[in-house]
Amino acid sequence: MTKPAQSESAVFPPSPEMTAHAHVDAAKYDAMYAASVADPEAFWGEHGKRIDWIKPFSQVRNVSFQPGNINIEWYGDGTMNVAANCIDRHLATRADQTAIIFEPDDPNEAAEHISYAQLHRRVCRMANILETMGVRKGDRVVIYLPMIPEAAYAMLACARIGAIHSIVFAGFSPDALAARINGCDAKVVITADHAPRGGRTSPLKSNTDAALLHCKESVKCLVVKRTGEQTTWIDGRDHDYNEMVLEANDYSRPVEMSAEDPLFILYTSGSTGQPKGVVHTSGGYLVYAAMTHEITFDYHDGDVFWCTADVGWVTGHSYIVYGPLANGATTVMFEGVPTYPDASRFWQVCEKHKVTQFYTAPTAIRALMGQGKGFVEKCDLSSLRLLGTVGEPINPEAWTWYNDVVGKGKCPIVDTWWQTETGGHLLTPLPGAHATKPGAAMKPFFGVQPVVLDPQSGEEIHETPTEGVLCLKDSWPGQMRTIWGDHDRFEKTYFSDYKGYYFSGDGCRRDSDGDYWITGRVDDVINVSGHRMGTAEVESALVAHVAVAEAAVVGYPHPIKGQGIYCYVTLMNDQEPSEELRKALRTWVRTEIGPIASPDVIQWAPGLPKTRSGKIMRRILRKIAEDDYGALGDTSTLADPSVVDELIANRAKT
Ligand code: WTA
Repeated sequence: MTKPAQSESAVFPPSPEMTAHAHVDAAKYDAMYAASVADPEAFWGEHGKRIDWIKPFSQVRNVSFQPGNINIEWYGDGTMNVAANCIDRHLATRADQTAIIFEPDDPNEAAEHISYAQLHRRVCRMANILETMGVRKGDRVVIYLPMIPEAAYAMLACARIGAIHSIVFAGFSPDALAARINGCDAKVVITADHAPRGGRTSPLKSNTDAALLHCKESVKCLVVKRTGEQTTWIDGRDHDYNEMVLEANDYSRPVEMSAEDPLFILYTSGSTGQPKGVVHTSGGYLVYAAMTHEITFDYHDGDVFWCTADVGWVTGHSYIVYGPLANGATTVMFEGVPTYPDASRFWQVCEKHKVTQFYTAPTAIRALMGQGKGFVEKCDLSSLRLLGTVGEPINPEAWTWYNDVVGKGKCPIVDTWWQTETGGHLLTPLPGAHATKPGAAMKPFFGVQPVVLDPQSGEEIHETPTEGVLCLKDSWPGQMRTIWGDHDRFEKTYFSDYKGYYFSGDGCRRDSDGDYWITGRVDDVINVSGHRMGTAEVESALVAHVAVAEAAVVGYPHPIKGQGIYCYVTLMNDQEPSEELRKALRTWVRTEIGPIASPDVIQWAPGLPKTRSGKIMRRILRKIAEDDYGALGDTSTLADPSVVDELIANRAKT
């Protein structure tokens, strides 16, 4: 991705209208930010009141980033219920207001407006169904659903009865689903018959059947009817949601939860090993999701907020469901894809539902930009007030197109940097307070203390401008608390490279105005179409194939996806490279992980560059994939430097 030189970067100050309208202007940001870091107890004690507590907290935070004692607690002695905060407390004033607008994949199918009163009834019924199936407080429930309202009901039903949900993106394969069901020892998996997407359907129930072959026999399955197509059925194990919901009671009492009881587990990729179960808890997470939703997006009553993410990712958790609903907002849930039936779908949905804030990923913007502005211009986008992006660095060309063609130069763009681990935005401009720059995540949110460290010495760099690794000096309420079942891995992953800090895994630049620019991952995580992937996962899928002896996977710049997946594959001695085998390996990875992990490039590699101790030199492989041989660096430590020439000579076209 091209990075502009600092001097080239344009600056867009907030408009006077936005500043007058916004919750936070520049002076207020400065005062609030200063207060938030000077006295986090007082600041977060006050903002903790934005949710309803059953028993109010007396302790705001108990945090240690010290090795050997990593501990993160917020509002630890308070009790509350997340679902009651997202639904019940709004009923007195907003029972008839729309909570969720469901826009189906097929534009000819009617959209559905679900009021807070309806949401309450449906979540209660789902909660009662789960209880009938034996789910109790602390049990895990895996959700493997399309983007349908039942996904939100299922999340909130779990929260209501104190069960911990773990959503698995519906694009994942049966193997990936099984690994996650087993990883958190789930009691129930909730799925649908089929998932329509982009005019096609994927067979979620039969994927689940395949996954459950590898799980404990006691795991039960709750099946939501989406398309009505036939599925296989195992009596006793499979439960019919649409039948049970007719009988289910309309009321379920929200269970009193500790602020630190887990709300959900979300598996995400890291630089090593298999995906890890990121654990978020209840009180602090909800406070942070709600506050960032309101302030970053300048949400006001009457707005219609649309985040295009899937609930299978953290963005969907925090900014389709929990943040907006905690604020009593109207949130759009979109089942489809940006290009079906054609490239105007996003904009038609904006027009149809009079969307005021629109939040999407750079990869979608790039894909739509490639289709030309005609698809945008035929729609009435006058309702839009603010645009947002998330998931990967946005290149200035895409930013400018988003700003000019979609926002008509009048909508501020909030480029929000955050992670599954952080629960909500950490760096972002605030629309009424800050100027924006194409490609910059700009400023820390309240309470967030970013530092740039020298990657070698680990020392904080105070000078500006500078570049280094991005760490956080102190906690914020939305921070993950642990890795499910593996607190040591939590410490090792995030707190051991740079002691005393949370290490994000991202590199960043701080410019001469003190604004932050994310430069991308500094570890072996790649970002493909805004989906985060561990190169280690793709490697382990490849080597699981009988023909493969060894594999090394790196990212390379891709015009639409941001990064593409470049695989170097060494075959077993008895195997011949062929186009069929290449195709077979692609299909293999898709079935092992899912279509999002499909290799873009497979290069046959008779040998891989290794150090004398046998470590693969990924730096070199990355450079070859990037077609950047001038910067190969020192290859003298390689066991056999000639493999590099061989790889360069046979580099695949990208
Ligand atoms: C990247 C998604 C640049 C980053 C919420 C991070 C970004 C990873 C941005 C987390 C942004 C996210 N600018 N890069 N605005 N937002 N990233 O866990 O590398 O799916 O570490 O969370 O995405 O991805 P995750």
